[in-house]
Amino acid sequence: MADDEVSIPDALLEALRAARQVTVLTGAGVSAESGVPTFRDAQQGLWARYDPQQLATPEAFEADPTLVWQWYRWRRELIARAEPNPGHRALADLESLCPLTLVTQNVDGLHRDAGSAGVVEFHGNIHRDRCSREDVIVEPSPDDDREPPGCPRCDAPVRPDVVWFGEAIPGDALRTALEATERADVFLAVGTSATVHPAAGLIDRALDAGAVVAEINPEASAAGSRVHHALAAGAGTALPALVRALRQGGC
Ligand code: OAD
Repeated sequence: MADDEVSIPDALLEALRAARQVTVLTGAGVSAESGVPTFRDAQQGLWARYDPQQLATPEAFEADPTLVWQWYRWRRELIARAEPNPGHRALADLESLCPLTLVTQNVDGLHRDAGSAGVVEFHGNIHRDRCSREDVIVEPSPDDDREPPGCPRCDAPVRPDVVWFGEAIPGDALRTALEATERADVFLAVGTSATVHPAAGLIDRALDAGAVVAEINPEASAAGSRVHHALAAGAGTALPALVRALRQGGC
């Protein structure tokens, strides 16, 4: 077996083939191989001195909207250079092999770019803007060079349409994710440290609901000791190997 090959447990393959519902939760590790730093990677360059968990908060935006806006502009520019990697594409392929719901904590939009349909964006999407007063999606005028720009409807500061620490998960996303987790016969946690709730809690909900739970992560996550299968590998290697193994078995 080639070094970069990953062996997929037969029990996991059998569970996937028999599953009426497969639910996948992805985290920043899936986008790491696209060059998008994970949330807990050291910030790069200019932003190295800031703690992301201090910037991604309503309080930080209230205190210094320009700083927070500039940080998101830096992240948007970094993500704009990123392409979906084999892990993203394998998850899009998996949709044709299993009844799948993909829940992502990532805000980079790379699952949609890879062709995944119906992605549940648990933490929103960095490419969308929202009025900080009216809470509606807006498109600031391209001529508005303020940082942040003003809402085209009420001129309140515009913010990224992402979930910040201390904010609620969008209702539809939460309901869809919970329902898909309760119904899951197989639950895959891919590229997440399983440390931020309520997303991380979906793993234990899947276990409590009797699903076969597997994790794909080069490092064991906070849930690693509780899952049925822990594949210590990168998403860009393990997910294509999983799809190949399912196809070889006639899935
Ligand atoms: P983290 O940065 O907490 O964890 C990333 C995980 O990916 C780690 O466990 C790494 O070991 C793993 N990893 C790294 N490279 C990988 C690879 N090639 N393949 C698979 N796994 C790999 O990111 P998240 O768990 O996504 O929340 O963090 C969850 C949330 O914390 C984020 O959505 C964000 C952050 O606060 C909000 O913004 C609200």
